[in-house]
Amino acid sequence: MSHADRKRGNNEPVDTGKTIAFSINGVPCTAFKGETVIQAARRAGMDIPHFCWHPDLSVPGNCRICMVEVEQDKGDPWFDIGCNMPVTEGMRVLTESDTVKKLRRETMQFITLNHPVDCGICNKAGECILQDYHYEHNGRASLSIDRKNHATKFYPLSDRIMLDNERCIMCTRCVRFTHEVSESHALAAVHRGDHALIRPAEDANFNEDAYSDNVIDICPVGALLSRQNLDHARVWYTRATPSVCPGCSRGCSINIWHRKPEWALKALDPQLNTRIERVTPLENPAVNDMWICNKGRDLAQLFERPRAMQALVQGMPVELDVAIDRASALLRGARRVVALVSSWGSNEELAAFHGAFADRLGASMGAYAKPDQLPLPGEVLEDALLIKADKNPNLTAATARFPLLPADAAAALTDSDVVLVWGEGVADDVLPPGATVIRLDGYAFAHNATAHVFIPLSIQTERSGHYTNFAGTVTPFTACFPPKAPVAHAEQLFARLAGHPAPRALAGAGA
Ligand code: SF4
Ligand code: SF4
Ligand code: FES
Repeated sequence: MSHADRKRGNNEPVDTGKTIAFSINGVPCTAFKGETVIQAARRAGMDIPHFCWHPDLSVPGNCRICMVEVEQDKGDPWFDIGCNMPVTEGMRVLTESDTVKKLRRETMQFITLNHPVDCGICNKAGECILQDYHYEHNGRASLSIDRKNHATKFYPLSDRIMLDNERCIMCTRCVRFTHEVSESHALAAVHRGDHALIRPAEDANFNEDAYSDNVIDICPVGALLSRQNLDHARVWYTRATPSVCPGCSRGCSINIWHRKPEWALKALDPQLNTRIERVTPLENPAVNDMWICNKGRDLAQLFERPRAMQALVQGMPVELDVAIDRASALLRGARRVVALVSSWGSNEELAAFHGAFADRLGASMGAYAKPDQLPLPGEVLEDALLIKADKNPNLTAATARFPLLPADAAAALTDSDVVLVWGEGVADDVLPPGATVIRLDGYAFAHNATAHVFIPLSIQTERSGHYTNFAGTVTPFTACFPPKAPVAHAEQLFARLAGHPAPRALAGAGA
């Protein structure tokens, strides 16, 4: 059973093989037996407004915005919520009739009865379903003459998430997420009617929910806010680049949000223009559905570590070309090279490495795939939803080409006079004393200066490629930024290191 099957809510279309013919707004459609109107409409490319309904969660039917009309052969039409109405043979559904539109307008009035409509200062503005539906389906100011209820504006739901109670429309998506997907059961609704509030459940700790930040995405309004991204950047100043989370071998599809070049900040620190503003899930049913864990949200902490941007020979700064030529000469003159291959290298880079050194591998050169990252203290090791124990994005592809570095790494390296270390995770003390060490990495470590040659590399956010996850699924990632300094792209570097001509070995700043 796939991950997606395992974690489906009650709300997924059920392909029973039997189809039912019906129509939406006069357009002939088909539904699977048991499918609801909203599900069948979505498959047909028609959107029925919805707040509480979510494709991966159960159906509470509490917001009523999805009301549709069903025409009858005789008598009056009837009205019901499309998210909980199974399609029946010959059903004629109307989603845009005058009565449906009137009901929607009235429902929007109820939903915004106590909502502060403070879009001007709301972090969700620009990607808020309530804001969109207001313009699409309501368009009028509140008709109410009563004062709105007030509630806490910034309630700390956890160390990571703030709740603005006034903006909450009590759709309960967040509560159901913690019950049905993350299974932390950490959120609940307390009180009733227009005094109802979302609160941490008494016997649970939302801080311990490794998937808690998904509620920020699924909240249809600006009630749930990421504390780490609060007020960082308006959504319309940023754009999403599709990528892959390298935090574990699940390889979740993600969007990395960063500032649009046309909205680059000119008066402030230019580094802000190449900062990761936030990370959100990119829906991928084969890998992660529409969820990621909190480690994926925190990728800026991994990608924005101090960078290595200076080539070194014997610890002294040199031009990048000089370091590459020196490393190439050392490799070609070695009696026996052992290469430790990065599990953060893309499929393309692994293939380039394999191709560049194919004539030496198994003879005067050995190569082992190594884990660049190990689980951090306190990190969730593995669970049934997404998180995998291997904390590297591409160890699967690396070990398909090269044997895994044995636990006794030092023993595997004893017979080498030159060791090539690509990526992180290898301390100096496992390297043979007296061996010549060449290191290739994107990040700044003290051991870069103790290597005979150090060559700085571009990192994932500066190049494009593919990773193969633990299950063999290949997913692409795309460069977000140009490299900040002259660094090498590994995919083109290896041919030059091996002594083959390679016209595009280097990647300069702005390349
Ligand atoms: S906080 Fe958001 S997701 Fe949770 S009930 Fe309120 S509106 Fe719905
Ligand atoms: S489950 Fe793994 S790949 Fe997915 S977001 Fe978390 S750390 Fe990243
Ligand atoms: S989406 Fe149907 S009742 Fe909320």
